[in-house]
Amino acid sequence: MTSSLRRLTSADCPRLRQFWIERWGGEEVILRGNIYRPEQLEGFVLKEENEWVGLITLFIKDKECEVTSLDSLREGQGIGTQLIRKSIEEARARSCNRLFLITTNDNLHALGFYQKRGFEIVTIYRGAVNESRKRKPSIPLIGMDGIPLRDEIELEIKL
Ligand SMILES: CC(C)(COP(=O)(O)OP(=O)(O)OC[C@H]1O[C@@H](n2cnc3c(N)ncnc32)[C@H](O)[C@@H]1OP(=O)(O)O)[C@@H](O)C(=O)NCCC(=O)NCCS
Repeated sequence: MTSSLRRLTSADCPRLRQFWIERWGGEEVILRGNIYRPEQLEGFVLKEENEWVGLITLFIKDKECEVTSLDSLREGQGIGTQLIRKSIEEARARSCNRLFLITTNDNLHALGFYQKRGFEIVTIYRGAVNESRKRKPSIPLIGMDGIPLRDEIELEIKL
């Protein structure tokens, strides 16, 4: 099957909103108390036929590039790796000093995935998810593998 990787455009906003609702329980993402909405973001989408099989969204500001979401709908086939590589390329091309992201304390798979791809843990924001939940009640109390969902963990790659 042929797949194509392309940059997100403003025309993708409605679909991105729907994608986030399905994957992340709402049309906004809250990270370190900051609220991110689809219309503020850049990113890349990997399509197979007309289906989105991978999506990475980015927020670039002050020479820093933040990954605000990463989703692979066909795990274990290299999609996540491809999207991270593309984002590193983009961050470098835009003269960013670092590429960073937040994941949560329950997401052991993502913690492993990122560290294997060169990210290092830089900060743990204890209780940050509990704070975000006040604004976005759809964030569950119990996360992946039955782990209480509480903290945000920041990882980065220096560029
Ligand atoms: C984390 C996530 C994005 C990874 O995406 P992915 O597409 O599965 O990532 P990849 O396929 O590139 O890599 C996953 C594993 O598959 C293996 N793999 C990649 N291509 C492969 C292939 N062609 N054949 C066999 N295995 C392969 C990789 O070696 C990798 O294993 P490793 O991490 O032990 O090295 C995905 O699991 C996901 O969407 N999770 C849910 C959302 C989420 O948690 N997002 C991150 C929030 S911060």
